[in-house]
Amino acid sequence: DEPAPRLTVIGTGYLGATHAICMAALGFHVLGVDANAGKVARLNSGEVPFFEPGLPELLAKALDSGRLRFTTSFADAAEFGDVHFICVGTPQQPGSDAADLRYVDSAVTELAAHLRRRALVVGKSTVPVGTAARLTELVRRVAPAGRDVEVAWNPEFLREGYAVDDTLRPDRLVFGVSSDWAEKQLRAAFGPVVDQGTPVVVTDLTTAELVKMAANSFLATKISYINAMAEICEATGGDVTRLAEALSYDDRIGGRFLKPGLGFGGGCLPKDIRAFAHRAEELGVGQAVSFLREVDAINKRRRERTVELVAELAGGDLTGVRVAALGAAFKPDSDDIRDAPALDVAAALHRLGAQVTVTDPAATDNARRSHPELAYATDAMSAAEAADVVVLLTEWNEFRLVDPEAMGAVVARKRIVDGRHALDPGQWRAAGWEYRALGRP
Ligand code: UDX
Repeated sequence: DEPAPRLTVIGTGYLGATHAICMAALGFHVLGVDANAGKVARLNSGEVPFFEPGLPELLAKALDSGRLRFTTSFADAAEFGDVHFICVGTPQQPGSDAADLRYVDSAVTELAAHLRRRALVVGKSTVPVGTAARLTELVRRVAPAGRDVEVAWNPEFLREGYAVDDTLRPDRLVFGVSSDWAEKQLRAAFGPVVDQGTPVVVTDLTTAELVKMAANSFLATKISYINAMAEICEATGGDVTRLAEALSYDDRIGGRFLKPGLGFGGGCLPKDIRAFAHRAEELGVGQAVSFLREVDAINKRRRERTVELVAELAGGDLTGVRVAALGAAFKPDSDDIRDAPALDVAAALHRLGAQVTVTDPAATDNARRSHPELAYATDAMSAAEAADVVVLLTEWNEFRLVDPEAMGAVVARKRIVDGRHALDPGQWRAAGWEYRALGRP
């Protein structure tokens, strides 16, 4: 038996830190690499720099085992590793829909400059199709080992809040490779996961890049589809929650990602569908995915509609209206506010003259930094104090459990907009509240 490959993980953001820690938990020797010395120091001292259930415990164990450490040195990484995972971010370029590849390019260039023996460079970042082929050329040009360094692509499907489980027990592995050797290396680098019986789909580089874009586009489309039905319900008096339920029993459709409401946000779906549409346009096949522009537009209209509902409940004019905004994170069990529908709505209400008090169990610090103009409260009850309208924007469990009687006693007016279909309208109305929700009469 060949010894297990030694792994490096370049980029210790959300994806990279999770991947490095989980691979060490699986028994591999792992070196995490980041240009940011502060981040490296925090990780080496056992601190996970973001909110993810289960990860701090796994990091502590991995550091104790001696199988995991973090460095800023690409030379060390090249020396250490047989398989190098590229996990740096690919954010949306400012002022464009295209993905910004500068971090991918610089990570691969810096690493390659030190690669003196046979190695596999595995991209995990979400990239425009064609990137892997371009990086293959780059690596051959820059690496002292030249053609002995290969590039492979292994897209990542982890969800925030479930990142550990999604990494240790993924529903599939996709290996985009251009040689049998690369496939063998990847199978070894995921040995314990492959041995669990996880389906492995082996593809060329291009297909592997596309799988990620296709998957996220599909998920975004499913959400916007049901939210488009919500618009129709709003125009006709139908109830989109019952409609979604009725669709969900058809197992060809399925109920997951069919939850209507304020729509999708986060660091992936919004930027990925825009980057995909943009890349397809560059390639002359923009028409094939032009519907993604519509998916994006439907998603944005949900935010506008939520603002309108709050204004309607307030009697039309938002000037001076006190609004309690429950939620800031883009989804519950996360502190992530990237492209968060919740925070977007809160900020829009503020711009229209409302006095907005935001509360979120995990994302308040992040929200305050990006939106210092808003007021913040520690919990739902204090946010609701003297409010004219309450609006639920992120479906945290503790918001679902709010007692309408108790909250009714502290607000100025019992008026609530449920942006996530998280509450029982019957219960709230029985407690004397005027209850409104998207896509529901
Ligand atoms: C997503 C993909 O699920 C994951 O596979 C990929 O690797 C990264 O992007 P994530 O961004 O963590 O993961 O969030 P996810 O749980 O998918 O939710 C995305 C957004 O869609 C959230 O804002 C959520 O509130 C919204 N959503 C989800 C809905 O509005 N309705 C639904 O039915 C499901």
